[in-house]
Amino acid sequence: MLVLGIESSCDETGVALVQGEGPGVPRLLAHALHSQVEMHQAYGGVVPELASRDHIRRVLPLAEAVLAEARRSLREVDVVAYTRGPGLAGALLVGAGVACALGAALRKPVLGVHHLEGHLLSPFLSQDPPEFPFIALLVSGGHTQLMQVDGVGRYALLGETIDDAAGEAFDKSAKLLGLGYPGGPALSRLAQQGDARAFKLPRPLLHSGDLDFSFAGLKTAVLTQVHKLGDALDARKADLAASTEAAIVEVLVRKSLMALDRNALGRIVVAGGVGANRRLREQLDAACAQRGVRVHYPELALCTDNGAMIALAATMRLQAGVQQPTTSYAFDVKPR
Ligand code: KG4
Ligand code: ZN
Repeated sequence: MLVLGIESSCDETGVALVQGEGPGVPRLLAHALHSQVEMHQAYGGVVPELASRDHIRRVLPLAEAVLAEARRSLREVDVVAYTRGPGLAGALLVGAGVACALGAALRKPVLGVHHLEGHLLSPFLSQDPPEFPFIALLVSGGHTQLMQVDGVGRYALLGETIDDAAGEAFDKSAKLLGLGYPGGPALSRLAQQGDARAFKLPRPLLHSGDLDFSFAGLKTAVLTQVHKLGDALDARKADLAASTEAAIVEVLVRKSLMALDRNALGRIVVAGGVGANRRLREQLDAACAQRGVRVHYPELALCTDNGAMIALAATMRLQAGVQQPTTSYAFDVKPR
């Protein structure tokens, strides 16, 4: 079974070809990605209309590149998968429209996938794939969730953010520090030169006793520090970046450990853009090693949005029999 996957929910166009054989873990044959980061940089964030137009320009050339690299023809594709949501409505419509048009033209079924399920399953494409069941920490620009994952399509939400997502906390703090967009990686780079104990920042909901998160207050605390520092900000920027990163990471790690303890599980998967964060990886790895817990990450290139995770999620859903592809090409998207 050959599945072509298209991701276009935000500011990356991703296309990939995945092969599913029997019950085994699917194999990634090729994937290609075009990031719009440079285009949106001038505006300090993603401009939805520009995003949609760029997806239109990129998606077919990327599909051609992927097929060429895998030495396959479009006619060999069995299912065309796309991100159904969540994401920007116009951006999602591009991927869904192209997938359904290809499906209709090739007389092959299509399948819409939840973007977060793509992130969640992406570690299955790594050298060291996880086994079910596991705890999943999903940390992206739009979501922060802890889940118990018992199998494909068997997800129980344990806790989530009640306001900003972890990636949003990185991005908004970075903006306050004048680091531009996308803020997460920039803040993380600067933090490496700073002292994480220099500023006392809040750890929201750390002792709430549940597995929910809150990051809006942290952003306000960073803003207060920025105002206090005034002209001295430049000299202390790395320290403030390091302290902000440490605050976000500490809450993520502590709540992840709580989830593992409560559900008596010895495996955790970290997925989503913030999963690329070095401090998060170091601290989670150290804490889990102490407890004999295995930590699984996607390959670094598959941490942020990509087509491979969409093709993979579709293939695994088909293999597990939890979703049937459809030949009704009346596609719809679910932005929220
Ligand atoms: O999963 P993703 O690519 O897109 C969404 O589905 O949201 O995640 C993007 C988020 C952004 O907020 C970005 O700043 C953050 O992931 N991010 C990072 C790092 N790399 C990406 N945050 C902290 N440290 C990083 N190294
Ligand atoms: Zn994402």
